[in-house]
Amino acid sequence: EKGGYDYFMLKEIAEQPKAVADTLLGRIDAAGSLTLDELRIPDSVLREVDKVVIVACGTAYHAGMIAKLAIEHWTRIPCETELASEFRYRDPILDQRTLVIAISQSGETMDTLMALRHAREQGAKVLAVCNTNGSTIPRESDAVLYTHAGPEVAVASTKAFLTQLVACYLVALYLGQVRGTKWGDEIRAVVHDLAAIATEVDRVLETMEPVRELARSLADKDTVLFLGRHVGYPVALEGALKLKELAYMHAEGFAAGELKHGPIALIEEDLPVVVVVPSPRGRSVLHDKIVSNIQEIRARGARTIVIAEEGDEAVAPYADHLIRIPVTPTLLQPLVSTVPLQVFACELATARGNEVDQPRNLAKSVTVE
Ligand code: M6R
Repeated sequence: EKGGYDYFMLKEIAEQPKAVADTLLGRIDAAGSLTLDELRIPDSVLREVDKVVIVACGTAYHAGMIAKLAIEHWTRIPCETELASEFRYRDPILDQRTLVIAISQSGETMDTLMALRHAREQGAKVLAVCNTNGSTIPRESDAVLYTHAGPEVAVASTKAFLTQLVACYLVALYLGQVRGTKWGDEIRAVVHDLAAIATEVDRVLETMEPVRELARSLADKDTVLFLGRHVGYPVALEGALKLKELAYMHAEGFAAGELKHGPIALIEEDLPVVVVVPSPRGRSVLHDKIVSNIQEIRARGARTIVIAEEGDEAVAPYADHLIRIPVTPTLLQPLVSTVPLQVFACELATARGNEVDQPRNLAKSVTVE
C-alpha cells in the first residue's frame, strides 16, 4: 500500500502534483473563472463579509498564515490567522459578517473544533477547509471546501498542506471575484498560473537528489534555522516544524526581518540556516533585504542553504547550497518552496534512524485539547 516507497511520507510527497491538480479539478471553468457553488454560502453573503478569521493548528495553521496574505491582497478584507487553541480562550470579536475559515486535514482536531463551535455561537459563518469527507469539522460548519489530497497516512502533513493552500487560494480568489476588487486582472492571471502549478510541483520533485544528499550530510547537527519573509515566513515555520517532528532536531523558523532583533545572536560557525528567498520580481524590495540577511549571517559563519527562484542570480554568491524552484506568482510560491523542506526533513529523519511515518510522541489526529 506504500506503492513501492519505503514510507507513506515519501509516497505522499510524490503524490503532491496530483493532489494539487485534483483539488483544482472542476473549480475553474473554461473561461478561467472560479466556480465554487459547492460552498453553499450565497455570493450575497460573501459580499457582506467584513472580516475573515482563520483558525487551525500545526501545519494547517501555516497554510492559514499564507492564506491571510492572499485574502487581504486579493480581496482587501481584513483577515487574521490564529492558532485554534489560542483563539478559543481570548474572547475574540466575531459577528454575522465574520467569515471564519477552519483548516484541518483530519477534520477531527479538537482545538480547531472548539474554536469553530465558539465562532458559530457568536453568529459567525464557518467555512471548513478539510481533507476528510464527513468528519466532524465539516459536519459542524456552515460550508466546506474539500481538499482532494486523498488519504494522508504519515503523521507529518505534506500533500494535505499543499492542497490546503490551493483551497485557500481558491477561496481568496473567489471572494475577490464575487466582490470585484481592483485586482481583477491579477486574479485572472493567478487563476491561470494556478491551473498550471501542478506541473511546477512535479518539476521540483524531479530535482530533489541534491537536497537529499545535503540532508544526509547534516545528520549530526543539533540545530537548523529557517528564515523567510512574507509568504516565505510561514514556509520557514513549516520547514522547522517538519524537522522537529521527523528529525527530532532543534529547528526554528524566523521572519528574516527579525534577525537583528535577537535571533542573529544564534548564528555561529557552520550553523545550517535555510533561507526561503522571495521572488526578485514583484515585491523586489523584500528580495533585496533578504539577500542582505543572507550576507549578514554568512559573514558570521552560517552555512547558507538558499531556496531561490530559477534565474535569481543575486543570491548565488552567498549560497553555500542553492536549491532552485520554478518561477511562480509571489503568493503561490509556497506551493513549490515547501517541497524541498519536506524532502529535507524526511531524509534527515531517515539518516538519523528515526521512524518517518510515526514520529515519537505524535498522533495523526489530535482529538484532545
Ligand atoms: O488534521 P489537522 O490538519 O487539523 O491537524 C493539525 C495538526 O495537528 C497537524 O498539521 C500537525 O501539525 C502535523 N503533524 C504537522 O505535520
